[in-house]
Amino acid sequence: MLISKSKNKVLNCINQFKQIVGDNYVFIDEETLNNYAHDETENLHFLPDTVLKPKTAEEISAIMKICNTYKIPVTPRGAGTGLSGGALPNLGGVLLSTERLNTIIEIDERNLQVTVEPGVITEVLQNAVKEKGLFYPPDPSSRGSCFIGGNIAENSGGPKAVKYGVVKDYVLNLQVVLPTGEIIWTGANVLKNSTGYNLTQLMVGSEGTLGIVTKIVLKLLPHPKYDLLMLVPFNNLEKAGEAVSAIFRAGFTPSALELVEIDALKITSKMLGGNTVVPVTDEMEAHLIIEVDGNNMDVLMNEMEVIGELLTQFDCGDIFFADDAQQKAALWILRRRAAEAVKLDGYTIEEDTVVPRAELPALIKGVKQLGEQYSFKAVCYGHAGDGNLHIRIKKEGSVYSLNNPEIIPALKALFELVKKLGGTISGEHGIGLIQKEYMPVMFDDISFQLMKGIKKTFDPNNILNKGKIFDVD
Ligand code: LAC
Ligand code: ZN
Repeated sequence: MLISKSKNKVLNCINQFKQIVGDNYVFIDEETLNNYAHDETENLHFLPDTVLKPKTAEEISAIMKICNTYKIPVTPRGAGTGLSGGALPNLGGVLLSTERLNTIIEIDERNLQVTVEPGVITEVLQNAVKEKGLFYPPDPSSRGSCFIGGNIAENSGGPKAVKYGVVKDYVLNLQVVLPTGEIIWTGANVLKNSTGYNLTQLMVGSEGTLGIVTKIVLKLLPHPKYDLLMLVPFNNLEKAGEAVSAIFRAGFTPSALELVEIDALKITSKMLGGNTVVPVTDEMEAHLIIEVDGNNMDVLMNEMEVIGELLTQFDCGDIFFADDAQQKAALWILRRRAAEAVKLDGYTIEEDTVVPRAELPALIKGVKQLGEQYSFKAVCYGHAGDGNLHIRIKKEGSVYSLNNPEIIPALKALFELVKKLGGTISGEHGIGLIQKEYMPVMFDDISFQLMKGIKKTFDPNNILNKGKIFDVD
């Protein structure tokens, strides 16, 4: 078995860790180490040397001071639902779980804000604020299990981002434990802030490489009263892509505008036992899922009608309107569980490409051409309204590994295409471990030096989530 370089250092510190978090929250048994050796990123597996489950920022600070002194690698982890390997303990060392920091501290109804700890499940937070008539929109597919802290680390999105924006648009202020152990607040609990560099936004999307977020202040909105949902089939995948921009150009901003290619819909429907109330037929190449929301039902009905008429210009079939909450839920399950279903079907690595919205048809066409060139089958689904398309590929006989020589050139070609179209390689999943190989497609040396300089300023000994996003020499 591979022994990590830090194992002895970690074992020498175990008693100190126990003094900080208590005997019950320091783990070195094989079963626990194995449970925290993977996340949702393909088949990757890295054993940590210990798993620590602190309860407070002060405990995390004390842990970081020890790890910084002895140069022990620390991997922060939320719920482990990430898709880019950000929470994988790739160097062994300490796996620091935020699962016990799971309190919603205050819902401030006067200011429409919430203060929350990072280990709160996103959907739990959404439901808690909804009870007060308030709305926290970012809703990744994993919202029933992912943590708000992980969402901040990756700057997550989800279907509602198209109208309401992503996590960064809601984060006002963060309490952060730095890699050297100091505790800071990054900003203020205000809606506007032009005071100095924006450390809050620097933390959002930094994938746990600059600090460990321990308290979060989020902006909330009043919850919209109504929503309507429809499923629109298209004879042609590219035409479905073209229809997406036309909806915005006609003056509408749907609260969700998702695309699902027929294979993804069929595979998901099969995984769910096929007994979904939503029609899934073979003849069509793709579907758009379109939701509108607001406070006036007549206005929403009219919007759906006009959008429906507009879509007839793009060779669409019969539109399915979700009549009630149950049909809406069934339709959303089909979309939200697509990633899981196609993964089980052998489609590997969920790519997270994003292009300017109007380039979506060119991306779709390019993906299929690359599939022919590199002999892979691709299936696409995702947040079409944002130009954010998830692409999974299946290459017969090829199993995913970090250095798979069959997959790397195909993905490089895909990302070159995305760049040519004015896009980038990740819209909401982050770079983590598995995409860092492709960062040079997007950035030149000067940009890398700037980013590495920031990392060194926060983490002079390079102990926090080392080897994620890029390597620091
Ligand atoms: C989705 C997630 C996995 O859109 O990003 O399904
Ligand atoms: Zn997504």
